[in-house]
Amino acid sequence: MWFRPAAFVLVAVLLACPAAGAAEPVPIDMEVDADAIIPPPATHHMGREIAQTMHYTGAPWLVRESRQREEDCRLLLEALEVKKGQRICDLGCGNGFYTLELARRVGPDGLVYAVDIQPEMLRMLSRRAAEEGLDNIRPILGTVVDPRLPKGQVDLVLCIDVYHEFSHPELMLARIRESLSAEGRLVLAEFRGEDPAVPIKPLHKMTKAQVRAELEPAGFRLAREFDRLPWQHLLFFSAGAPPAPADDR
Ligand SMILES: C[S@@+](CC[C@H](N)C(=O)[O-])C[C@H]1O[C@@H](n2cnc3c(N)ncnc32)[C@H](O)[C@@H]1O
Repeated sequence: MWFRPAAFVLVAVLLACPAAGAAEPVPIDMEVDADAIIPPPATHHMGREIAQTMHYTGAPWLVRESRQREEDCRLLLEALEVKKGQRICDLGCGNGFYTLELARRVGPDGLVYAVDIQPEMLRMLSRRAAEEGLDNIRPILGTVVDPRLPKGQVDLVLCIDVYHEFSHPELMLARIRESLSAEGRLVLAEFRGEDPAVPIKPLHKMTKAQVRAELEPAGFRLAREFDRLPWQHLLFFSAGAPPAPADDR
């Protein structure tokens, strides 16, 4: 009889382990404060309706073959002027379409914080990062009010097709501001709301005027615009002095 307990244990261990050579997923920081009080989500903000969170089952759309042609993602990445050694946050990273390339661009001395509120998105991202052998990505589970970033250290917070989904935009903007380094920038890519030729539902688009009207009172100043993407605005904001407290005299 070939069957022996020891052989059985060996087979069980082999089945439970990842295949030889298969990369371990990059660990995800899931340590959200379960006791934190989160105000109810807003449905509207400053005259616009807030879009629903894109569900993780729609993630294949983010890595669709036509995305480069439609959105010119390579041009967007070039416009960011990423430098080696930078600390970047891909906020609302989804399944990591931009995260992986950002990690390559900042190099081994840089770091990409990949933040999302859906653990399923982060799991997809962490598997892909491991397959690519990238170890300079920190996947972080954020909450709808806090991306859980270190304060004063992030050179670029990137929100690509994300800001219009924030259910608590003012609280998120306050946390993003705190996370930026002295020369740090918040960059928003949003489908152009002014342009009827952009084939995206109006709820998922924003006008430049609307973006500015929301970010400027939160202490951000438009520092640069890049207008050569086919469908999106690409807006770079710096954080000036904190907004003055409301005068209630
Ligand atoms: C349309 S997807 C864009 C994903 C990615 N930026 C890309 O371009 O491939 C929007 C993502 O933002 C995430 N998201 C929405 N609100 C968020 C928040 N407050 N903090 C972090 N992620 C958020 C969603 O879970 C979703 O994965």
